[in-house]
Amino acid sequence: MAAVPEIRPRCMIWLGRPTIQEREVLAAAGWDLRVIENPCDTRIGLRGSDRVAALMDLRHADAEWLAAMQALLSRHSDLPLVAFGDEAGPLDSECLLRLREPLDLAQIQRLAQIIDGDHLVRGSASTDSLVGGSAAMLAVRANLHKFAPVELPVLVTGETGTGKELAARALHEMSTRRGRPFVAINCGALPASLVQSELFGHEKGAFTGAAARRIGLFEAADGGTVFLDEIGDLPLDAQTNLLRVLQEGTLERVGSHHTIRVDVRVVAATHVDLEEAVTQGRFRQDLFYRLDVLRLHMPPLRERGDDVELLAKHFLARFREQHRVRARGFDASARRVLRSHGWPGNVRELMNRVRRAAVVGESDLLDAQALQLQDAAEAAASDGLGEVRVQAEREAILATLRDSGFNVSECARRLRVSRVTVYRLCKKHRLALGALRP
Ligand SMILES: Nc1ncnc2c1ncn2[C@@H]1O[C@H](COP(=O)(O)OP(=O)(O)OP(=O)(O)O)[C@@H](O)[C@H]1O
Ligand SMILES: [Mg+2]
Repeated sequence: MAAVPEIRPRCMIWLGRPTIQEREVLAAAGWDLRVIENPCDTRIGLRGSDRVAALMDLRHADAEWLAAMQALLSRHSDLPLVAFGDEAGPLDSECLLRLREPLDLAQIQRLAQIIDGDHLVRGSASTDSLVGGSAAMLAVRANLHKFAPVELPVLVTGETGTGKELAARALHEMSTRRGRPFVAINCGALPASLVQSELFGHEKGAFTGAAARRIGLFEAADGGTVFLDEIGDLPLDAQTNLLRVLQEGTLERVGSHHTIRVDVRVVAATHVDLEEAVTQGRFRQDLFYRLDVLRLHMPPLRERGDDVELLAKHFLARFREQHRVRARGFDASARRVLRSHGWPGNVRELMNRVRRAAVVGESDLLDAQALQLQDAAEAAASDGLGEVRVQAEREAILATLRDSGFNVSECARRLRVSRVTVYRLCKKHRLALGALRP
């Protein structure tokens, strides 16, 4: 394997009491956490290779606690220090960052840059490409940090357009293989007759049309990562050869019996249920178990809450960097439909809708119409639930639930249906009432 910089762990010494959410945010950004709540009976144990920052959590601090913590810190004057809480005053001169709000991902990443200095550790930089701060995305980031340094295959699952390929790239960038090739192959797009030769290469004259020797994608990716998209579409004979690469790290070019060693990490993605493909005999069971060691599930957009708006803003901002468009943001109707739309095409659909809206929109703020999304509340009021198509049905029920303060009886009355129907529709459209209620 190529010589690559080692990944040194980053550790946050939290002087005080982090909330569960703060713990999750730190884990998602790849930090280890050490909590020191009581300054009297502790020393700050620093291990040589760690990249460490201290965080003074002043939310529960009194003068005595603060003095003891400062005494503790005074022995580590070179430790990057952050303080947050309304009373961040007394620490002024020593603070690198002063925050009033609980830590979010952006602040933690800024901190990572400060303590990394030379930017050797690019872990957080590559999870940056994945926009989103919802609990579901924090869990994805945390898994990326866990999986990246491990030399095992990863199986990325998720509906279409949820960012499977983006996650696979992030995984590669965060691994020791960064700087080496990342080769992505869509197994479904390769013609069956050419799969073997594309993946494993061929010798001159191996088959009609093989005019010269050609190395395959696995050889081209040596030292790096191979991303096998739509792995469920891989023909059975190619599955056998892939199994050999995974088990023995070797392959043979088509038309040759010469064994070639390759060092690749395999990341595979699927939006079909591979277990079902195994039951139906379309996918080798042994290969499935080889691939399904670490599983990364990309949640659908409809489970990412406020991320939808965050992503919409992100895509508009990216688009504005390259194109002269009038739109700067989204109006209330746009924000409402962004939240209530079911997003069958997930992040990709959102991106394309925003781009299209940015082109056709004629005002500073894009509205629901520019996004070509029906305002569900209006649709429900004018059409009645019965006539609204499946997609609009979900939007309608969600919007009406919101407008009724998630009171099922009130929602049923407004839609002129029974409460049972409301429950049935919630189930049908996977709307978890408990989770939706503020
Ligand atoms: N969290 C995210 N932040 C920013 N952009 C994202 C995010 N997730 C996805 N995207 C963008 O959305 C588009 C679709 O993502 P990607 O191709 O990775 O999805 P996919 O799951 O591989 O889709 P498919 O199943 O159709 O192959 C890409 O342009 C990607 O950059
Ligand atoms: Mg893809």
